Amino acid sequence: MSTDRIIAFDINAAQVSGAAGGRPMSRPARAGDAPRPADPGRARARAELASAYAAVLGAELPATDILEQMLRAVGEAAALTGGGAAGEVRPEHVAAILRVAGMSTEIEDVGRPAPGHWPALAVMTSGQMVLVLRQDRESVFIHDRSCPDNTTEVPIPEFEAYFSGRIVRAHSTLRQIEERHRLSETREHWFWGAFRAQRRAFVEVAAGSLVANVLAVAVALFSLQVYDRVIPHQSEATLWVLALGAFLAIALEMALKLARSGLMDLAGRRIELNVQTLLMDRLLGMKAAPGQRAPSQLFSAMREFGSVREFFTASTIGTLADIPFIFVFLALVASIGGNLVWVLAAGAVLMVVPGFLFQKRMVALTQSTQGAQARASRLLHEAIYEHETLATQRGQERVRRIWEELTTLSAAKSSEQRKLAAILTNWAQAVQQATYIVAVVVGAYKVFAGEFTVGSIIAIGILTSRTLAPLTQLSATLARWTNVRAALDGLDAIAAADQVHDEDRRYLRAERIGGSYELRNIEFRYDPEAAATLDIPGIAIPAGQRVAVLGANGSGKSTLLKLLAGIYEPEAGRVLLDGVDMGQLHPRDLRRSVGYLGQDVRLFSGSLRDNLDLTQLERDDRRLFAAIDFAGLGPFLRNHPRGLDLEIRDGGEGLSVGQRQSIGWARLWLQDPSVVILDEPTAALDTTLETTLVSRLDDWLKGRTAVIATHRVPILSLTSRTLILQAGRVAVDGPREAVLAHLSRPRAPSAAPAPSAAAQ
Ligand SMILES: Nc1ncnc2c1ncn2[C@@H]1O[C@H](COP(=O)(O)OP(=O)(O)OP(=O)(O)O)[C@@H](O)[C@H]1O
Ligand SMILES: [Mg+2]
Repeated sequence: MSTDRIIAFDINAAQVSGAAGGRPMSRPARAGDAPRPADPGRARARAELASAYAAVLGAELPATDILEQMLRAVGEAAALTGGGAAGEVRPEHVAAILRVAGMSTEIEDVGRPAPGHWPALAVMTSGQMVLVLRQDRESVFIHDRSCPDNTTEVPIPEFEAYFSGRIVRAHSTLRQIEERHRLSETREHWFWGAFRAQRRAFVEVAAGSLVANVLAVAVALFSLQVYDRVIPHQSEATLWVLALGAFLAIALEMALKLARSGLMDLAGRRIELNVQTLLMDRLLGMKAAPGQRAPSQLFSAMREFGSVREFFTASTIGTLADIPFIFVFLALVASIGGNLVWVLAAGAVLMVVPGFLFQKRMVALTQSTQGAQARASRLLHEAIYEHETLATQRGQERVRRIWEELTTLSAAKSSEQRKLAAILTNWAQAVQQATYIVAVVVGAYKVFAGEFTVGSIIAIGILTSRTLAPLTQLSATLARWTNVRAALDGLDAIAAADQVHDEDRRYLRAERIGGSYELRNIEFRYDPEAAATLDIPGIAIPAGQRVAVLGANGSGKSTLLKLLAGIYEPEAGRVLLDGVDMGQLHPRDLRRSVGYLGQDVRLFSGSLRDNLDLTQLERDDRRLFAAIDFAGLGPFLRNHPRGLDLEIRDGGEGLSVGQRQSIGWARLWLQDPSVVILDEPTAALDTTLETTLVSRLDDWLKGRTAVIATHRVPILSLTSRTLILQAGRVAVDGPREAVLAHLSRPRAPSAAPAPSAAAQ
């Protein structure tokens, strides 16, 4: 342990913290690239330091993810790029980075190093920071990428000489640890789990209900006392005392019920927020398996969530909470009226039985309307968004007819549903009143027999209404339950849908994907019954190669490209990227490194800026303009009065088809991926722009793997290898020149042997 050592460690530390001017980005900047906003080297060094520390704490947090997260959180971005002398990494910056990643952090002044402090980031007197892993009696161990085991050992006195006494410490929150170690089977249900989280509120509601119901007895007891004690003795004082007591009880009951509904509302809002966020996450993260999801069903399922929330939190739970107290009331009635309680019990059973008997019918009705509802929402969507096509192709009549059919159907079904619900409610009310009458009749006989006082009859009358009231609500609730259950099932399908990012997996992380492809025995079909849409025994594309995919309409070009982009998974066989199955790569890394420009570029409502910067990672308008220039939209936008603020209307309208394709190019340029998958990328562009773009692309594509499906000749000049698909099979594969020469021969290529498969 000599001075060389500490110097070595200092240099390494400098490298880690970026004080030595920062590391180069993983890909050197090329001509045509606009400068990135702030000093990327420094930002990256900070992210790397935080990433190394997070890894020590068991959290997987690649530097690139940190950088992206930092850029998204605008406020924090200032911490990342601003402040301090050039190259200085302030403890606050790193703490902020770790906090963005969800860890709890603190900066402490500890003075001298002690084993209990580590692992932590130590601030050195020079302002640099190092990651100290642990400490023993003689040395501290410091994270250093350039050493074996990524660790270097420094004697404590030498370390202390440079140690400022401050450390940044982070730890995973309990929630993160829980997430990390949870078994997948114990994962909570998307809806009931959120409910469970609010169980305290529900316990409080139940407690409130208990007290409110006990108080509700006051009115009955008041009547009993007034008729039996006060009136016979004509004692005014007792009357008023009793009345006052009853008023108080009523006021208290009202206050409790208000508090109860407030609590329910709060719990409902929390559940709604959590569940809606989760559902949107699942919706966004769904795998794009063909035929798996019917958009119209998703639409109507999501829309139904409101009714689910309403059911569980509005009045319903309140009424359900009252139901157990029926037994309390029945006990009270038994204590006053003895056997008479059986009249009430019989009434209660009679009230709810039809509700259960009708369940099956209700479920059948709901199911029969569901399909119609989903179809109606799809039709509505089409009628609004495809208005022009319908108008010009005279398709309105068809829409009108289907709409009428669906409306008639759903009106008939829902009227039947309402009828059933009305029967249930009215039946319950009728039984409730009949029970009252029977109770009074039985009571009257008991009075004749001298077993009862008049007060008892009155009290029992009041208690009868009180006891049975929640049950009238119950039957209405049962009528709604079938609808809610159907909605829950629909939402269940969303929550359980296969996700691109499987939470139970630890994917391979790759900052940058090289881009060599290998396809092995690929089979893919949209329709499980039909012949394979794609059937490819094997293709290998080395990193950096540019391949053109040709073929007739419907030959499977777009499908192949979607497989290569990782949007679809093959039904059989494997797609290897950089030698590993694509399914093993982290979806974030895949989406960062593999750029996909689809045949049809979609825009979203918002400004043009939003549409260019869908990732929300670009903070620099100069870069946006550079992207637009690259894509050939520069002159149009510079002359436009609104420029980047150009409004894209609802439904993605606001630009021409060719301009939309240019936006696709600009997005791709901003993404700067190492693999580009382009599906007829110039089909909508004019020839001038196409030529210009092709000449720009020649430079831009250097070092990137490119697979381009096209029908256009100019694009071919960018590529060195040509694949021709025919009905989902590779008919021809070879160097461009050879294939083109082969194609221009008089006979059709299908029967002829393909040129050498080893392209290049
Ligand atoms: N979403 C889908 N669902 C069902 N079948 C599909 C779907 N997309 C494509 N197909 C079918 O798969 C086959 C290949 O389609 P693909 O879009 O890959 O062709 P393509 O070569 O890109 O055609 P084009 O030149 O017209 O773009 C076609 O026969 C088509 O009918
Ligand atoms: Mg296509």
